[in-house]
Amino acid sequence: MKTILITGGAGFIGSHVVRLFVRKYPEYRIINLDKLTYAGNLANLKDIENEPNYRFVKADICDFDTILALMKEEKIDGVIHLAAESHVDRSIKDPFTFAMTNVIGTLSLLQAAKCHWESLPEKYEGKRFYHISTDEVYGALQLTRPEGDPAGNECGGGPFGDEFFKESTPYNPHSPYSASKASSDHFVRAFHDTYGMPTIVTNCSNNYGPYQFPEKLIPLFINNIRRGKPLPVYGKGENVRDWLYVEDHARAIDLIFHKGKTADTYNIGGFNEWKNIDLIKVIIETVDRLLGNPKGHSLGLITYVTDRAGHDLRYAIDSTKLKKELGWEPQLQFREGIEKTVKWYLENQEWMDNVTSGDYQKYYENMYGNR
Ligand code: NAD
Ligand code: DAU
Repeated sequence: MKTILITGGAGFIGSHVVRLFVRKYPEYRIINLDKLTYAGNLANLKDIENEPNYRFVKADICDFDTILALMKEEKIDGVIHLAAESHVDRSIKDPFTFAMTNVIGTLSLLQAAKCHWESLPEKYEGKRFYHISTDEVYGALQLTRPEGDPAGNECGGGPFGDEFFKESTPYNPHSPYSASKASSDHFVRAFHDTYGMPTIVTNCSNNYGPYQFPEKLIPLFINNIRRGKPLPVYGKGENVRDWLYVEDHARAIDLIFHKGKTADTYNIGGFNEWKNIDLIKVIIETVDRLLGNPKGHSLGLITYVTDRAGHDLRYAIDSTKLKKELGWEPQLQFREGIEKTVKWYLENQEWMDNVTSGDYQKYYENMYGNR
């Protein structure tokens, strides 16, 4: 019997990880700890909330005393840490919140795990602290290959350059979000190097799929197309991101949590680069088709707006190490993933409307209080 603390489990990726672990490992006890910020939504976990091996705890990772008490009460063996402020645009407006949650919150969680595990007779034996991070800590890459280069993949036209982020790429974060994630990664590694904590860090590319908060590009644009609202494309839409279906990320997390090497780092990505504007056209085509609109119907919603400050040009992850060492590969092809994702948002308009109106928070405030 293992008891695993998953932080940020009411968010986008966290909810997929919680669902996977609760269903796949009935012999584990899964504790989902989440502050339920604007990004946390327990409706993301409705289908598993009554499972006997699942417990939800509303708490802030910065609250060291509460976290330590919970770790002792539940005899936590492993931590999978996803709780974070995750949106780059918000970090540009409010960097303090990002430093607080992502840096101090991670430190508080590390320190609580250290105090709990060091108090046990077996100490760190059989324990693991797994920190989920991002490719954004590596900075930005150049666009060195023109579109249509025969070396590119068949769907997006990528790769758009010869360089990729590898596990050995030096950190060079540009946004307050990525600077806070980089700092938290350093703290995690410092706890291994200084105290011998069995840590592991992974850096993943852009995720997409069901339950993503509609401030992020894909759900925002699907919802805006459905409602006939403008689609704000930052700058010229030339920036490149590497997209991975969220369940493929969750599978990688499961594999690495169980089989990854202690103190190691793994990059996780889809080898699936897209220029924003090309991706947006695929989304428009898919939504229009599924809504029964004529071809090209929503193209006129594209609206070029002022670029994001410090907008990183290209992210591209090299996940060869994960494939070679642990045999992980994405299972879903991009076209299939986008089709599935668009269908999910169109079929779950109530979820989307609750999130955009803020109603989901009122409901859960009654249940857990608004601390
Ligand atoms: P999200 O914003 O959807 O969810 C974050 C969750 O953390 C929410 O449920 C929120 O309530 C919770 N949270 C925030 N502050 C908290 C606090 N102080 N205490 C407890 N809970 C708190 O984020 P996401 O997109 O699911 O990302 C999850 C993790 O994965 C983050 O660490 C992010 O940096 C990382 N990541 C995300 C992506 C991506 O494409 N979304 C890619 C790579 C890495
Ligand atoms: O690379 C991993 C990261 O991916 C994660 O660490 C972050 O948590 C996650 O939010 C995501 O960051 P991005 O900034 O890449 O995602 P976002 O969906 O905000 O934007 C994707 C691209 O689309 C980016 O180049 C900015 C652009 N964009 C975004 C929005 C919201 C637009 O052009 N218009 C928009 O309205």
